[in-house]
Amino acid sequence: MQIYLAPLQGLTDWIFRESYCQQIGLFDKTFTPFVRVQAADFYRPSQCNDLLPVHNVFQKPVPQFLGNTAESFKRFEELCVQHAYSEVNINMGCPYPMVTGKCMGAGLLAQATEVAKLLEGIFAETKLKISIKTRLGLDNSADFKPLISIFNAFPLEELIIHPRIGKQQYKGEVDLIAFAEYAPQLKHPVCYNGDILTVADIEKVQALVPKIDRFMIGRGILQNPFLLAEIRKQELTQAEKVKMLRNFHSSIIEYCKQKYSGDLHLLKRFEELWEYHAEGFENGHKIYKQVKKSKTLAQYEAVIFKAINELS
Ligand SMILES: Cc1cc2nc3c(=O)[nH]c(=O)nc-3n(C[C@H](O)[C@H](O)[C@H](O)COP(=O)(O)O)c2cc1C
Repeated sequence: MQIYLAPLQGLTDWIFRESYCQQIGLFDKTFTPFVRVQAADFYRPSQCNDLLPVHNVFQKPVPQFLGNTAESFKRFEELCVQHAYSEVNINMGCPYPMVTGKCMGAGLLAQATEVAKLLEGIFAETKLKISIKTRLGLDNSADFKPLISIFNAFPLEELIIHPRIGKQQYKGEVDLIAFAEYAPQLKHPVCYNGDILTVADIEKVQALVPKIDRFMIGRGILQNPFLLAEIRKQELTQAEKVKMLRNFHSSIIEYCKQKYSGDLHLLKRFEELWEYHAEGFENGHKIYKQVKKSKTLAQYEAVIFKAINELS
């Protein structure tokens, strides 16, 4: 079984990935959060820092493209080739209105002809392996039906499916029934993504669609960084886990000190991580509140290392 780390903008950037891969374990693949390219220009050039080789020493990610024209993709491909990447993922899942309104991310899914045009343009020239990360639709999972023959017409590396529709954003249920209907109709390898928090969640998907053996996990890893080891049946003692978690957080703090100036920026970033990470702790609600109240890096360190030590 292959396990991928999901891209989460603001959370699973190089700092998280490097710290995780060095201190906890390697995934079969990791992905950068999206780099938005609009009218063949980088919307926020700083996003490109995330894929620089100097920041990706322990595991090379698959860079993710968010855009809707072959010209924009070409610009992104040039950057990826320059840094020796061989595969790129296309985002067809971002649900935020400022993205979907521009016919990008999940906004593409309701426009099958635009998807076909984009893929034709890309495959006419690309030298890279291309995978797609998609939802089932923008407002309706029926959007996916006309996309199946389009996806099947191109030599995709794989399709990663998050079986929600755009308007759900990250709320509500994943639609496993629709996933089970559509996945077998795709000729490419399919990777399942969405709400995997335990080994039992993987078994539930496999019971419905037995041939699925690739899973992408985002929030489940933030909540329980040892989920990867549990899936791979790697036994870890509590002492080993505590040590790994301590080193993981120390590494994040060190990298953040290099990247951000001033405690405030660091603390904002840590708050976002702990919004998800605290859920894996018994008294997570209390820890998250203390993280939010921390006014200095020293206070933050005292809160989190106490919480981690109490796991022993
Ligand atoms: C805060 C946040 C940021 C995200 N950023 C991205 C992104 O940059 N690219 C992407 O393809 N998906 C992004 N996603 C979606 C996740 O990759 C994933 O599809 C979703 O969280 C469902 O998987 P999970 O339940 O395992 O987290 C984001 C999700 C969240 C909650």
